[in-house]
Amino acid sequence: MEDKKVIFSGMQPSGSLTLGNYLGALKNWVNLQNEYDCYYCVVNMHAITVPKEPKDLRKNTLEVLANYIAAGLDPELVTLFIQSHVAAHAELSWVLNCFTYYGELGRMTQFKDKSKKMESNAITAGLFTYPTLMVSDILLYQTDLVPVGEDQRQHLELTRDVAQRFNNRFSETFKVPEPFISKDGAKIMSLQDPTSKMSKSDANENSYILLMDKPDAIRRKLKRAVTDSEGVVRYNDTQPGVKNLINIYSKITNKSSQEIVSEYEGKGYAKFKDDIAEIIINELSPIQDKIDYLLKNKDYLEKIYISGAEKAEKVARKTLRKVYKKVGFIPRF
Ligand code: AMP
Ligand code: TRP
Repeated sequence: MEDKKVIFSGMQPSGSLTLGNYLGALKNWVNLQNEYDCYYCVVNMHAITVPKEPKDLRKNTLEVLANYIAAGLDPELVTLFIQSHVAAHAELSWVLNCFTYYGELGRMTQFKDKSKKMESNAITAGLFTYPTLMVSDILLYQTDLVPVGEDQRQHLELTRDVAQRFNNRFSETFKVPEPFISKDGAKIMSLQDPTSKMSKSDANENSYILLMDKPDAIRRKLKRAVTDSEGVVRYNDTQPGVKNLINIYSKITNKSSQEIVSEYEGKGYAKFKDDIAEIIINELSPIQDKIDYLLKNKDYLEKIYISGAEKAEKVARKTLRKVYKKVGFIPRF
C-alpha cells in the first residue's frame, strides 16, 4: 500500500449524478482502484457554497456515496468518506486561504461563470474561496494524481501553485499533484445542445440522463436527442450530436468509434439511437438495483463512511500537524 501512488477526487452532492459523471469520472475511478491508493470523497462542504436545503443535502450525500459503491468502487480497496467528517479539510482551508491571493481566486472561470448568473448580494465568500477548499482536499493526502474533468484543470493549477508557494516559503510540506484528465471522448455533452456539457443543473431535463433514470425515460431522451440532417453515422466535429452519441456508445461498450461507424453504415439515426438507449439501460440497470439496495441499508453505508473517515483522518492530521508547526502555531500536544 505504501508505495502506491495516491489518488484523490470528489463529487459534490448537489443532485443526482448524470451519465456524464459516470462515464467521464466514476468509471475511471473504478479502473484506478487496484493500482493506486485512492481517496474518493463526497464534498458536501463544497455543496453549501450555493443555497441548499438541509434535507436535500443529507439525502444527496448518501446518494452520492451509494452511487460510488454501486458504480463499482470497492470500500475494501479505496477510502470513501464524507468531507465534513474530517475536520482537517476546514482547518487547512483556513491556513491556505492566507496563502492564496484574492486576484487568483477572482480569475477562476468557474467562479466567474457561477457568480455571473447570481444576484450580487447572493454571492458568498464561500463561493469565492471554494477553490482553496478543493486545494486543501487534495494537499492533505499528499496526492500524486487527481482524476477530474477538463473543467477542473484551472483549480488543479491553483493547487500546484499554492503547494509550491507554501513549500518555497517554509520547506517541503506538500506533494505537488498532477492533473489526471482523460483525453477526447471523456466529456459527455448535453443531448439537447451537443456544444455544452451534460450537466444536472441544466434546466431542460431532456438534456441529461441521470444514473437513476428509468428505461422509459432513457428511451424518450435518446429519441429526442439532437442530431443533424445528414442522416449518416459519422465521427466528426461537424456532427457534434452524433459524435457525442458515438462517444457514449464507445465508453460503455469499449468499441472504437471506427467500429461503431462501420456497424451503422447504411442505417439511419433511429436504429442507432434505439440501440444506444438499450446499451445505456443495460449498463445502468444493475447499478440502479445496487443503489436501491444500498439506500435501503443505511447501516451499511454508515459503516463505510465512518471507517473511511477514520482512515482519511489519520493521513490528513499528519499533514495538518506539519502545516501548523511550519506557520508557527503552538502545538497543544
Ligand atoms: P460535478 O458534477 O460538476 O461536481 O462533477 C463531478 C465530476 O464529474 C468532475 O470530475 C467532472 O469533471 C465530471 N463530469 C461532470 N459532468 C461531466 C460530463 N458531462 N462529462 C464528463 N465528465 C463530467
Ligand atoms: N470542484 C470539484 C467539481 O466540481 C469537486 C471537488 C472538490 C474535487 N474537491 C475536490 C475534485 C478535490 C477533485 C479533488 O467537480
